[in-house]
Amino acid sequence: MTQDKSISATAFLMNGRDGPYSYAENSSYQRKAIEATQGMISKGLWRNLGCSVGPNTFIAIQNIIDGIKQKNKSQGHSSQIPEFQVFFNDQALNDFNKLFMSLPPNREYFASAVPGSFYSHLFPKASLHFVYSSSSIHWLSKVPKPVEDMNSPTFNKGRVHYGGDMESFLSARAEELVSGGLMALLVPTRKKGNLSTILLHHPFDVLGCCLMDMAKKGLLDEEKVDSFNLPLYIPTLEEFEEAMKCNEHFSIERFELLGLKSSGEIVPETLSMHPRATMEGRISEHFGSEILNELFDLFTKKAAELGICNSGNRFDAELFVLLKRK
Ligand SMILES: C[S@@+](CC[C@H](N)C(=O)[O-])C[C@H]1O[C@@H](n2cnc3c(N)ncnc32)[C@H](O)[C@@H]1O
Repeated sequence: MTQDKSISATAFLMNGRDGPYSYAENSSYQRKAIEATQGMISKGLWRNLGCSVGPNTFIAIQNIIDGIKQKNKSQGHSSQIPEFQVFFNDQALNDFNKLFMSLPPNREYFASAVPGSFYSHLFPKASLHFVYSSSSIHWLSKVPKPVEDMNSPTFNKGRVHYGGDMESFLSARAEELVSGGLMALLVPTRKKGNLSTILLHHPFDVLGCCLMDMAKKGLLDEEKVDSFNLPLYIPTLEEFEEAMKCNEHFSIERFELLGLKSSGEIVPETLSMHPRATMEGRISEHFGSEILNELFDLFTKKAAELGICNSGNRFDAELFVLLKRK
């Protein structure tokens, strides 16, 4: 078994605990993206990358199975439904026990877990038929070096920065998928242009402002705020397409922007729930958990002041991509 040990990834986990700030309770945006792809995938051995703790991940798997069954039926092969084995992948610190305890009792697949970074090889060569990943590959393997370097022009001054490492992801998957195997990806994308302008009034930007406000009040050390970086990069549509085309092992079968409907006006309290569910762990690790309530109260107030509550999509658009291993 060969594994690329040179690539490790910083674990950046969603809030897997139960309760009002859990990822399970605060991931309806990601769920909408999954639901919007229903019927787009009709084609085993599968893998769900960046699965977190559910329930979105189970909905996605069921959609894929339904798609395959429907396709078989339309081709007159209803009696030839294959058996499915699904490998749920996430970072080793993900709460896989919780995931397994909430597996749907009437599921139509065998479930296993594979811990580790999806930027490295996780499976034997040519062993997978289908790979699926939603709202996960914009999390980088680590904070890019220039962002951490205080002398670099991209050094983070109270803002959150992003970078990219799609190449290792695609190369690892190219090794693991059988020829003709499919990979479906759901990725947030942003408008072209200067990131800091686009992210103005974005929840991450608001969070950065709140941290700076707390530093100004002497509640936080400003240097700590400056060194707080999220290993996250939201590509433009063009950047993402370019990254796909650079990899010679895949053909692009579908490349579609999803028109996700906003579920109406969002109240500021609700708006702070999603960033809290996704970032609470990282913030506690860096600043200590005692700042959480005050930080997110401030976030709620700022979000209301800035009027960002009814801005609809958080990013420019959610992209659905279906790739085929050549
Ligand atoms: C926003 S959640 C998405 C969960 C689920 N797929 C959904 O659509 O709701 C992102 C997940 O990706 C996982 N993740 C981030 N980087 C990862 C990596 N390098 N390897 C494996 N999982 C990773 C995180 O731990 C987290 O559970």
